Amino acid sequence: MTEMSSLPQGYVALLIGASGGIGSAMKRILRNDPRCGDLTALSRRDDGLDITEEASVTAFAEKLRGKKFHLLVCATGALTIDGVGPEKTIRQLDPDVMAAQFRLNAIGPALLMKHFLPLLHREERTISAFLSARVGSIGDNRLGGWISYRSSKAALNQIIRTASIEFKRTHPNAVLVGIHPGTVETGLSEPFSRGRERMRPEDAASRMMETLDALSNAQTGSFVAYDGSSIEW
Ligand SMILES: NC(=O)c1ccc[n+]([C@@H]2O[C@H](COP(=O)([O-])OP(=O)(O)OC[C@H]3O[C@@H](n4cnc5c(N)ncnc54)[C@H](OP(=O)(O)O)[C@@H]3O)[C@@H](O)[C@H]2O)c1
Repeated sequence: MTEMSSLPQGYVALLIGASGGIGSAMKRILRNDPRCGDLTALSRRDDGLDITEEASVTAFAEKLRGKKFHLLVCATGALTIDGVGPEKTIRQLDPDVMAAQFRLNAIGPALLMKHFLPLLHREERTISAFLSARVGSIGDNRLGGWISYRSSKAALNQIIRTASIEFKRTHPNAVLVGIHPGTVETGLSEPFSRGRERMRPEDAASRMMETLDALSNAQTGSFVAYDGSSIEW
């Protein structure tokens, strides 16, 4: 059993993207955490929350107004959108496909920050985590390829960093990070998994929760991996 022991007993959690491979494993973990007093788990499929539509995000934020969340996890994202997967070369770049990647992987999470960060507890410790990807690291990019997905995640990382600086001024006990889940057995990684070792979603999710639980306030605005190691920008 994974317990978020750094958060207050009875902590209030919000999970977005709860229908995904990683999101549904996180949902199971949070449901089984005896310290979690209240879990709101939302998805596009089951609840109609589309993070690329601001009206959809504001409607849900409105419904949740009054709650004081301690934990916010965003597990949304895609590598293949409308059947189009990542580019092997810049020659395959299509501006509409690239815009769709940015819309979902960068702008969607930014909208969630805009409308859901104000719902976090102001005085008590809070943890907000956005699922990013190691391939979004510019410093770690040695293979090239996947230009739209990589750059959308790099943009997400900058959005996380920027929002964390502003947020800590009003919420000194808040930790806001980007987290890489590892290579995980989900629909997202399935078409690219040949010859690659993948973690079970349950293992990735529980390792991420343990890593998040152990983060100090000073680590807000950082980019970490599921195992607690830090990733260069
Ligand atoms: N799996 C890996 O190996 C891996 C590696 C590195 C990073 N990641 C990152 O980890 C995160 C989760 O990935 P996963 O492997 O769990 O993928 P997944 O199984 O495909 O789940 C993706 C989730 O994103 C949601 N989503 C997609 N478009 C949305 C939209 N417009 N509005 C709201 N929700 C939307 C899906 O909701 P619906 O069910 O409604 O479609 C689903 O809940 C992603 O950010 C991904 O980039 C994964």
